[in-house]
Amino acid sequence: MTQLPGLLTQSALLDEAIRKDFPLLDRVVHDGKKIVYLDSAATSQKPRQVLDALNEYYERHNANVHRGVYLVAEEATALYEGARDKVARFINAPSRDEVIFTKNASESLNLVANMLGWADEPYRVDNETEIVITEMEHHSNIVPWQLLAQRTGAKLRWFGLTDDGRLDLSNIDEIITEKTKIVSFTLVSNLLGTHNPVEAIVRRAQQVGALVCIDASQAAPHMPLDVQALQADFVAFTGHKMCGPTGIGVLWGRQELLEDLPPFLGGGEMIETVSMHSSTYAPAPHKFEAGTPPIAQAVGLGAAVDYLSAIGMDKIAAHEHAITEYAVKRLLEVPDLRIIGPTTAEDRGAAISFTLGDIHPHDVGQVLDEEGIAVRVGHHCARPVCLRYGIPATTRASFYLYSTPAEVDALVDGLEHVRNFFG
Ligand code: ALA
Repeated sequence: MTQLPGLLTQSALLDEAIRKDFPLLDRVVHDGKKIVYLDSAATSQKPRQVLDALNEYYERHNANVHRGVYLVAEEATALYEGARDKVARFINAPSRDEVIFTKNASESLNLVANMLGWADEPYRVDNETEIVITEMEHHSNIVPWQLLAQRTGAKLRWFGLTDDGRLDLSNIDEIITEKTKIVSFTLVSNLLGTHNPVEAIVRRAQQVGALVCIDASQAAPHMPLDVQALQADFVAFTGHKMCGPTGIGVLWGRQELLEDLPPFLGGGEMIETVSMHSSTYAPAPHKFEAGTPPIAQAVGLGAAVDYLSAIGMDKIAAHEHAITEYAVKRLLEVPDLRIIGPTTAEDRGAAISFTLGDIHPHDVGQVLDEEGIAVRVGHHCARPVCLRYGIPATTRASFYLYSTPAEVDALVDGLEHVRNFFG
């Protein structure tokens, strides 16, 4: 049995046989080298079970939903709504009606910002109120709030970062105040990997009566997600990072909020009645799903949820923890390598960003690519984090349920090539 650092043993790892479920992992890239896919934080690979569900849907059940009275249309509706049931169970939602399908996490977060922008009291964001985010957010949890602040005159405030890549909550009572209407933050950072302390933030937000929105895009694929335990008001995530197809995201929201808050997009399917003067709206979730929804994509996400649940989210989390612990240890052995973010596997996710001396991350990524190793380079749509640490960009390796210790070793060997190449 291979002994991994920190007394973790091979027993924490998932059986490598699951790699056979992912056709792309067999892909040969440059010079006959098999791909080492270390970019799952950008998008995960898709198992055969999800690809089959998508094909099956299009080949046998394709029709529009909630409209037709014929058999195939009823099947399509049952599959689409069945996917909602699966997602609701996956996140322990109290009600299936609290699960809104969107295009991606960005759309989910924009939806929350726009609901609050158009809302009446007590939810309305206006020039007397404040919005709180953090410096480690993905742009999708920054820009919608900037737009809302610009439109309403609300003040945008944020938590800064400590030198070791964590949220600086030392001034939490000054940042979240009686003026705060909404606190929106990421559960796990896509660049730093930091797993944030939800409880402290939620407790303070609840003290002042602010709503809480959590971006769980980098959490939902990797660990059990229980929206009731989080005690947030909204939780957003995307399907394509959790073995599902692109084009499907989720916004979970507390039922009473979804009943009270106004829709953002208008159109077919979100209405109860329409006249030339005015309209009334369907109950949630349909109130927030205007137009033909991403039907096949929802079905694919349902299959992804089935796939992950059959393996077990606890087991997936344990696997990733072992791989991350091993990767952090091995990466820290590489001369001149600086991890941007926590340097222990505790309280962090499986995305590890680093710089390598003064070699530009784009050069690092290019040499790794020649070795068949796929990583992401750049600011990872979290540019304020790079500004905070005074770097233009990072190289990011991110792991998932199919990642292996051998792939970590390949990355470390690849970085040795990079160092040799650039002298
Ligand atoms: N949000 C994705 C990432 O962090 C695209 O790479």
